[in-house]
Amino acid sequence: MPIPYTKPPAPSDDKRWKIVETRMRRHGDRPQALIEALHAAQEAFGYLDDEALQFIGDTLGVPHSRVYGVATFYSFFTLKPQGEHTCVVCTGTACYINGAKEIMTGFEQQLGVKPKETTADGKVSLLTARCLGACSLAPAVIVDGDVRGKVSAADLVAELEAM
Ligand code: FES
Repeated sequence: MPIPYTKPPAPSDDKRWKIVETRMRRHGDRPQALIEALHAAQEAFGYLDDEALQFIGDTLGVPHSRVYGVATFYSFFTLKPQGEHTCVVCTGTACYINGAKEIMTGFEQQLGVKPKETTADGKVSLLTARCLGACSLAPAVIVDGDVRGKVSAADLVAELEAM
């Protein structure tokens, strides 16, 4: 006789898990809900940790290797706690040739961070994206959810330094 499937319990009593569980249930708790579930967990917690990835994989019946593969492949997922502010720098071709490279260098030299890192004071996390769909604004960045275009590396770094 097949062993009846039992859903794994949420990692903790934190109410935010309910949001994640509801989103997965809406998709029938099936592997196809993986991206949706990762989004739900990231929205709820701000980032994805091992606990979240394993819980989602176990609930949807997706191997952990695949869950980690997806979570690390897409640049909109972050596996680390975020700083108070988040800056996503577009490193797509249009942005790269129009100044994204200088922005990344500025971050590294002046703020001491590389992509997926947070400044030592916990203020700013740096993330990258492949194309934000705003190429006419190159170089484009998103600061705390606001899309900014034609940014200068020096101005942006100075602004983030002052945060
Ligand atoms: S390449 Fe940056 S927005 Fe498209």
